[in-house]
Amino acid sequence: MRRLVLLTTKASLPYTAFSYLPGDILLVGRESAGVPATVHEAADARLVIPLKRPMQSLNVAVAAAMIVGEATRQLGGLPHGQAASERW
Ligand SMILES: C[S@@+](CC[C@H](N)C(=O)[O-])C[C@H]1O[C@@H](n2cnc3c(N)ncnc32)[C@H](O)[C@@H]1O
Repeated sequence: MRRLVLLTTKASLPYTAFSYLPGDILLVGRESAGVPATVHEAADARLVIPLKRPMQSLNVAVAAAMIVGEATRQLGGLPHGQAASERW
């Protein structure tokens, strides 16, 4: 089964504390207004990127890059799973 994983400022589970699976659909909201309540409720998981106040949200492209990077890292998609400093 594929899961709809929503990145939203209105969540409590940090995106780094979630276990991603192959086939997960990662969804971000509109820059201006996020997603409608119906989409929020329909998601299988809702994740947040914790921010220090007074910051309230990130640019949507930055937020998308962060969740894709974390999901890729967890699923072994980064080269050898090593930090750059270990390869050189
Ligand atoms: C600029 S934000 C939308 C701000 C909107 N006022 C809201 O509260 O939903 C655009 C999208 O980026 C993602 N996003 C930005 N910052 C985020 C954060 N700290 N945690 C989770 N998602 C974030 C979400 O998908 C959000 O819908």
